[in-house]
Amino acid sequence: EKRILSGIKPSGELNIGGFAGALSQFVRLQKEYTGFFFVPDLHAITVPQDPKELRERSRHIAALYIAAGVDPQKNAIFMQSHVSAHAELGWIMETISHFGEMSRMTQFKEKSEGKDGVSAALFTYPALMAADILLYQATHVPVGEDQKQHLELTRDLAIRFNNRFGDTFTLPEPITEELGARIMGLDDPSKKMSKSNPNGNSYVMMLDSADVIRKKFSRAVTDSDATVRYDWENKPAVSNLIEIYSIFSHLSIAEIEQRYVGLGYGAFKKDLAEVVINELAPIQEKYAEIVNSEQLDVILKEGATKAAHVANQTLTKVKTALGFLLP
Ligand code: TYM
Repeated sequence: EKRILSGIKPSGELNIGGFAGALSQFVRLQKEYTGFFFVPDLHAITVPQDPKELRERSRHIAALYIAAGVDPQKNAIFMQSHVSAHAELGWIMETISHFGEMSRMTQFKEKSEGKDGVSAALFTYPALMAADILLYQATHVPVGEDQKQHLELTRDLAIRFNNRFGDTFTLPEPITEELGARIMGLDDPSKKMSKSNPNGNSYVMMLDSADVIRKKFSRAVTDSDATVRYDWENKPAVSNLIEIYSIFSHLSIAEIEQRYVGLGYGAFKKDLAEVVINELAPIQEKYAEIVNSEQLDVILKEGATKAAHVANQTLTKVKTALGFLLP
């Protein structure tokens, strides 16, 4: 059986980078795989969160999964904190993890650098992420480029556990798409598109209105060469825009280049905005219907039941292997 598991943190509203790298993959892959899609709220609190905002964003992310087309009948959609096995196995994976390998995680270095009051949980976060994945015996994990290091660590921890305590965990593989695994900021193609950028024009949010999307793309940086050509080395800003165009239009890079031969960036950026607006419109519409509905609560409840059933089986296996007395 092929199983995928993945999640998007409710620490900010979702931008089109997370859609390109993760959510659009969930939708595509659900045809072939059994899917577990969760909202990692335990991960979100590794940095301070306002409780009211956390509650809203948790619904936001879960509703976006469904609005984008993740089928709640076919997959388990759930909150991480609703399945207590995550926290339990997270602790156990911490005991398997080494301080040195955790210290090498680039995301921790980036997020902690120059900050006061960095939580211990931000440091041990990858052990919890490993638990998320291993609990479901996931064979594949669709993620953007920035999560690949955490996936490698997950594999290392699984191998270490299996060697010490006997075959317990399936080794997961990351799935990253060639296009969209690393969408960059519209203001600076050397930085990942991220909500944490203080410049609001650097990212497009999933729920941005058509006018805001037009404005943001019209302000996107390009270069002085004025040809729509895909070349990350020499034309990173334009290449980033072409990737976004390709993901949202389902046209190939070559088709897009072809379409704009002899045309300037103005026409290209204008069309790009429309392509994104068209693809987001039905998602935004569905989102509005679902985000405050009771149906969403029902889906999350059923998802948690399905997920807990699988997760608890693995947890019992782990506890037995470790030598814990079973109640
Ligand atoms: P998070 O919440 O930061 O991001 C969610 C997913 O979106 C991808 N992503 C991007 N992809 C392309 N371009 C971008 N600019 C961009 N920004 C974000 C991320 O790579 C990710 O796939 N640790 C995870 C959440 C998590 C998880 C898991 C994921 C917790 N447990 C288990 C998979 C499996 C995170 O912080 O992602």
